[in-house]
Amino acid sequence: MCGIIGYIGKDNTVEVLLNGLYALEYRGYDSSGVAINIDNKISVIRSVGRVSKLEEEIKKLNIKDSIYGIAHTRWATNGEANINNAHPHKVGKVTLVHNGIIENANVLKRNLIKEGYQFNSDTDSEVIAAFLDYSLRDNSILDSIELLKRKLVGSYALGIIIDGSDELYALRKDSPLLIGIGNKGNFLASDITAIIKYTSDYILLDVGDVAILKNDSYEVYKENKKINKEILKSTSSNISNDKNGYSHHMLKEIMDEPQVISNLLDRYSNSDSWKELDLSEYKSIDIVACGSAMYAGLVGQVLLEEYAEIKTNVYAASEYRYKKKIYNDKTLVILISQSGETADTIAAMREVKKLGIDTLAIVNNSNSTIAREVDRKILTEAGVEIAVATTKAYVLQVCVLSLISYVTSYKKGLLKDKISYNDFYKLPDLVDLVIKNVDNYKEVISILSKSESCFFIGRGIDYAICMEGSLKLKEVSYIHSEAYQAGELKHGTISLIEKDIPVVAVITDKNLKEKTLSNLGEVESRGAKGIVITTEGLDDNDEHLKIVIKSTNRFLDSILVVCVLQLIAYYVALDRGCDIDKPRNLAKSVTVE
Ligand code: AGP
Repeated sequence: MCGIIGYIGKDNTVEVLLNGLYALEYRGYDSSGVAINIDNKISVIRSVGRVSKLEEEIKKLNIKDSIYGIAHTRWATNGEANINNAHPHKVGKVTLVHNGIIENANVLKRNLIKEGYQFNSDTDSEVIAAFLDYSLRDNSILDSIELLKRKLVGSYALGIIIDGSDELYALRKDSPLLIGIGNKGNFLASDITAIIKYTSDYILLDVGDVAILKNDSYEVYKENKKINKEILKSTSSNISNDKNGYSHHMLKEIMDEPQVISNLLDRYSNSDSWKELDLSEYKSIDIVACGSAMYAGLVGQVLLEEYAEIKTNVYAASEYRYKKKIYNDKTLVILISQSGETADTIAAMREVKKLGIDTLAIVNNSNSTIAREVDRKILTEAGVEIAVATTKAYVLQVCVLSLISYVTSYKKGLLKDKISYNDFYKLPDLVDLVIKNVDNYKEVISILSKSESCFFIGRGIDYAICMEGSLKLKEVSYIHSEAYQAGELKHGTISLIEKDIPVVAVITDKNLKEKTLSNLGEVESRGAKGIVITTEGLDDNDEHLKIVIKSTNRFLDSILVVCVLQLIAYYVALDRGCDIDKPRNLAKSVTVE
């Protein structure tokens, strides 16, 4: 996902912009650039690859200083990752950076070419700049921006400089954008991490807002009328880009898991707070999310049906938003999202809200679009996740779903396993135990690290865990991995099994253990290298390489297994020399469809 930062003020503009770009690296990108005002001329410097390369280019120019500028990290959507497609884009009097996708860019481009415009890039962003430049011929800046808002179809967060005006302009639709209010100048940014070093005071721009930033003041307009906006203070004071001594953010964030789980459990330790977890009024639940968040939903589905006895379905948001929706009178749609800015999940939420169906979000970013627009929300409060591959936020999504299942089951008088809330407090220590136990996983890490493909198999809740374990491995180590329902493998995919291909069987459900073991036997008899990850009490089988973890209860065992799989994925990627925190092609939050 692209990142935007802009600054106007008395601080060193180049330094502010570069610090902002480094802080935005976690969003995933393949090129970057800055546009700065030097002696009233806008200079644009861009480079493909890491921000450090851009910094080298800027240093060559020996820039004294600039009073304002905008900068961007680009995650390629329209047009490949090359210098021409990197932002900022300058057309005529307009220089801008853009996060989002303009769906009618080609139509606008054709018309602008007829008006004599030439384009150097394949991007929709350059078309925005050209259209704005064209509008400025006959309109004021604010009127031209209003015209632009009416013309554009799609999503955008825009940071704009206009030749001859010592101001920055910011506007957005769907893609997030905020303005920061500092004591030495003002900022625009995709998220608070880009400017937290300078200010924790910010304003979230809403759809239709147009912000005008000067070095010592700012104004926000809606339909050409000045409006007042609430200044928020970032509570994420613990946003730190450092790794606390760990070699990667991903490892640090796995090591954060015991503490953030404990914080979550403390939040609900008093049953008076259970109201927000109680879903006993609902007859059916649709869980809608993307990627790992969806896989957390798969764990929640098993627990909600098994313990709360509520019919639950899980959908990829990109599918759900287009499917025929069939609801009964008491349906709840749960949206799960770490960033709260995933385009497909936002779109699905808006579709559902239009139909008048109750929505609940399990979300990490409290200022995100989903957190602000959903009917009800439960914040995971995992803290900022810098590594692109989610770990602690995913674990907290599963923990919240476990707590929801537990509380709803309790409220419906269905809690048959006589589990008390205090049993959940075993989890932080058990997670701490498994994530500190890397030596027990060394052989499995070594086998996977030498493989070019592997399978994860499981049944029921174990299949849900396999889905996330497999995705984690793919994301950070680039090993082709597939998660499969253990009983399904023999219906076709078993043809891919060949000598020494690793097959990891996850077994935490005693009722399904023998079935999964026999599925493992089917692939081992065809040459696969079987690996079992299971819990104490289910590990009475010594035929396979295995990892055994302490068992707790149905609500928690799957969380322990996934922490092991996260760690294994991390060390396999380390072994393979991968770019663990910023895997190729990936973005931290996919704000485009
Ligand atoms: C990143 O590790 C995840 N694998 C990715 O699939 C993520 O879960 C997905 O893009 C949804 O993001 P969100 O939770 O921010 O909505």
